[in-house]
Amino acid sequence: MPDDRPIGFFDSGVGGLTVLREVLRRLPGEGTIYLGDNARTPYGPRSDEEVIRFSSECLDELAAREVKAIVVACNTASAVALGDLRSRYDVPILGVVRPGASAAVLATRSRRVGVIATEATVRSRAYFGAIKDEDPFVEVHEHATPELVPLVEAGVIDGPIAEAAVRRALAPLLGGGPADGGTISAGPGGALIDTLLLGCTHYPLLAPIIQRVCGPSRAVIDSASATASALASLLEINHLRATGDREPQHQQFTTGDLQTFRQTAERLFGPLFPAAAPLALAGAA
Ligand code: DGL
Repeated sequence: MPDDRPIGFFDSGVGGLTVLREVLRRLPGEGTIYLGDNARTPYGPRSDEEVIRFSSECLDELAAREVKAIVVACNTASAVALGDLRSRYDVPILGVVRPGASAAVLATRSRRVGVIATEATVRSRAYFGAIKDEDPFVEVHEHATPELVPLVEAGVIDGPIAEAAVRRALAPLLGGGPADGGTISAGPGGALIDTLLLGCTHYPLLAPIIQRVCGPSRAVIDSASATASALASLLEINHLRATGDREPQHQQFTTGDLQTFRQTAERLFGPLFPAAAPLALAGAA
């Protein structure tokens, strides 16, 4: 039976809007509610216990708003908290790790995949496990690049500063070889990667620079579009697609400063998310 309830999205901040943007493109008839926990971002340097607790508090809010499914649009929360979250709620919950891992495995020809993500995501080895589940013969080289998150938050997603930061961040995976991708060069870990998976919600906003630095012969994969496709299948299989009879509504909430959220969202996404509102969480005061 079709279902006009909205889909809930949760991220530690604005980065998950990259996932929401893909879902709006892929599923234009669906209503959405997005919650960014900006008051406590970033999650990447936090302990697993904190990530699980904060994520649960945010999902309590979404669940209370009668959503029909929840997308954990945060790699760190997906990597660390997904199992806990799924055991707490009845609604279907989709993370971003598995869709991204599947897309990367489909893309690699040399069976050598690099993953960049936050410290907590790398520590969890969630991408390693998800990629190995898809194909045990794929080599996985994970590398934490938390320095790219504040860059994106500050709206620095193009230009020489962003490019220099991306080059520095990717050097351990790409080595010192030519950026034109003509020869795939070995990093210190011997990573002859031909595919780079962007395992953090913020990184798709740096994708043009990352692709330039990686060179044309490497595939740069983000979880956002793969997650939107996985969500479409989830809704289809469970008969949860919207009827299409109503104009879909979209709401964004932030636990942080509303003005900052609006400005960052506008700087990064243009006028796509104009209607943010504040949301107070007891734990985030
Ligand atoms: N949303 C987080 C992620 O995708 C990035 C920012 C953070 O560290 O909270 O891992």
